[in-house]
Amino acid sequence: LKQEALGKIESSQSLKELNDVRVAYLGKKGPITEVLRGMGKLAPEERPVIGALANEVRAAIQEQIEAKQKILEEKVIAEKLQKESIDITLPGRPIVQGNHHPLTKIIEEAENLFIGLGYTIAEGPEVETDYYNFEALNLPKDHPARDMQDSFYISEELLLRTHTSPMQARTMEKHEGKGPVKIIVPGKVYRRDDDDATHSHQFMQIEGLVVDEGIRMSDLKGTLALFAKKMFGEERDIRYRPSFFPFTEPSVEIDISCKICHGDGCSVCKGTGWIEILGGGMVHPNVLRMSGFDPENYTGFAFGIGVERIAMLRYGIDDIRHFYTNDVRFLKQFSPVE
Ligand code: PHE
Repeated sequence: LKQEALGKIESSQSLKELNDVRVAYLGKKGPITEVLRGMGKLAPEERPVIGALANEVRAAIQEQIEAKQKILEEKVIAEKLQKESIDITLPGRPIVQGNHHPLTKIIEEAENLFIGLGYTIAEGPEVETDYYNFEALNLPKDHPARDMQDSFYISEELLLRTHTSPMQARTMEKHEGKGPVKIIVPGKVYRRDDDDATHSHQFMQIEGLVVDEGIRMSDLKGTLALFAKKMFGEERDIRYRPSFFPFTEPSVEIDISCKICHGDGCSVCKGTGWIEILGGGMVHPNVLRMSGFDPENYTGFAFGIGVERIAMLRYGIDDIRHFYTNDVRFLKQFSPVE
């Protein structure tokens, strides 16, 4: 019996098999327990002999099981280590770093510039009411200038904003007639244009508004000249043109010369050689009044910058549609951080 048990222990390949052997030989129904239980039936002089023998066999089997158990356990650990080992010589997977979209870069640059001049940044809804988009900007329902901006209407009173200017009225209302107001508003705007190289039904603007006592046209000129120089460098020419917006009086438009110089010479863009980048002017007294400011005490200037135009000039992009088609070959040309 002892030899048989020891043989089985030796040949056990797993902890489970070993446990089965233990139960079979040492368990409650095993042969040794049976022998010990049957002691009562033996002659008194046989009992110590048989008892000692049974105990010896049991101890031997027990000892052998424990030894084998250790070996099997170590084997399990070794296998586990083997399986979970990491091959540190494998080359790593490259981490792909995304780039900032060129429009994001221009907006961030402009924001930093205006924050440095003491402006705060505001944002407004893209679904706007007819009141803020037109009426509060001195464009009553029958005003012919509404034709200038063919709009996406959602209902009679709601539309996709055609410019960021509604935030002029919204911001002034919040100030309850007290200056100073000094904000810029970056955001998306929508117009019913047919898309081509220079027109998109969706584009971005940065609105600016300053209202306080004694604000003059020269403040607007100085601010916009600084902006243009910072964006395009000292060498670019800037041109002011008289213009018209119902919400500013007088109104101006600013063009940047689109002469682009590389190492080996300069080229001029098609057309007039100038690209319009923004419109602006002195806030119309009606606009101040409707939003709770007294035009006797307060004056202000406002402007609206076309973000795509700036990006096209800065990076030499010839088609506005590139900004929205999300071709990674286009986007990859812009560094993650400038
Ligand atoms: N909202 C005008 C436009 O979209 C630009 C503008 C803004 C003009 C502020 C004057 C003052 O064309």
